Amino acid sequence: MAKRIEFSRTGGPEVLEFVDASPVEPQAGEVRIRHQAVGLNFIDIYFRTGLYPVPSLPSGLGTEGAGIVEAVGDGVDHLAVGDRVAYAQGPLGAYAEQHVVPADKVVVLPDGVDCETAAASMLKGLTVQYLLRQTYRLEGGETILFHAAAGGVGSIACQWARALGVKLIGTVSSPEKAALARDNGAWATIDYTREDVVERVRELTGGEMCDVVYDSVGKDTWETSLDCLKKRGLMVSFGNASGPVEGVNIGILNQKGALYVTRPSLNGYADTRERLESMCADLFAMLEGGEVKIDIAQRFPLAEAGKAQEALAGRQTTGSTILLP
Ligand SMILES: NC(=O)c1ccc[n+]([C@@H]2O[C@H](COP(=O)([O-])OP(=O)(O)OC[C@H]3O[C@@H](n4cnc5c(N)ncnc54)[C@H](OP(=O)(O)O)[C@@H]3O)[C@@H](O)[C@H]2O)c1
Repeated sequence: MAKRIEFSRTGGPEVLEFVDASPVEPQAGEVRIRHQAVGLNFIDIYFRTGLYPVPSLPSGLGTEGAGIVEAVGDGVDHLAVGDRVAYAQGPLGAYAEQHVVPADKVVVLPDGVDCETAAASMLKGLTVQYLLRQTYRLEGGETILFHAAAGGVGSIACQWARALGVKLIGTVSSPEKAALARDNGAWATIDYTREDVVERVRELTGGEMCDVVYDSVGKDTWETSLDCLKKRGLMVSFGNASGPVEGVNIGILNQKGALYVTRPSLNGYADTRERLESMCADLFAMLEGGEVKIDIAQRFPLAEAGKAQEALAGRQTTGSTILLP
């Protein structure tokens, strides 16, 4: 018998239950992984609360994990029992001691990336890869605004932007988070709970404003974000930490300077095996080269997934958080 987190109704962290689950045999094209670490991500909260629908209830939770392959289904030739692997786009159910995952979502880890680091960085790091290298291909010299810069995705973005020679202005909610973002390579920080973000961006950029704004906060920052862009700048809305952006009048993009806007997701970019492998190669090179270091600032036992989610939703975490089976 193996343990996993399950929920039978959407709601607060109290709906999460730690239950027994019988091991499932992998079908053709699947592998079963014994987790050494599980990634905690904001998207897990969207599924738990019902903001994003789950296929059925009761449901498992979590899409990211790392560990050892312990069973391989027919037709899988790139993975073998005993391989050290990770995935970021699994079916819901990664909050578990073991999980069956389509093999085409699973990659073998290079020697320089341990399982905890992988669980803390696959989803967040691949997200930063597509945001900075694909959604807008930053080459160096650009100025960008990145919200929640001390969080999981934000901490990786600060380091990756520094490596590219990009001036990243990071927003944060406390002096401690500002110091952390600057240590990670943010060129400047703004406390968006106390300061006027648009005025500070104007000051910092000498009135030029930003080439790109990366906004995962959503509802609370949407309009401010648009006001921080140059004419014809790109608004990348990629999350809803404060709630989803709704009721947008598209004419606002014209009023604020012929702006571009996109609403991307990891699944929209790592949508083929070839693309996933190329994005992982880029991420692993940044990790093994030391340009990006993963700060696992919180570790929780798997059984305390609810507590971990409470901390993440309550803005109490920095860097990455993992769950340990
Ligand atoms: N589209 C994609 O492909 C994709 C992939 C991965 C993640 N994301 C999104 O990226 C964001 C970051 O994910 P993460 O897992 O790394 O989380 P995180 O950044 O570690 O945590 C979220 C942070 O958002 C900030 N925040 C601002 N307003 C908030 C509010 N009302 N409630 C809670 N937090 C608030 C907080 O930082 P401060 O205290 O500094 O404000 C908080 O620490 C999430 O919105 C997530 O959905 C999107």
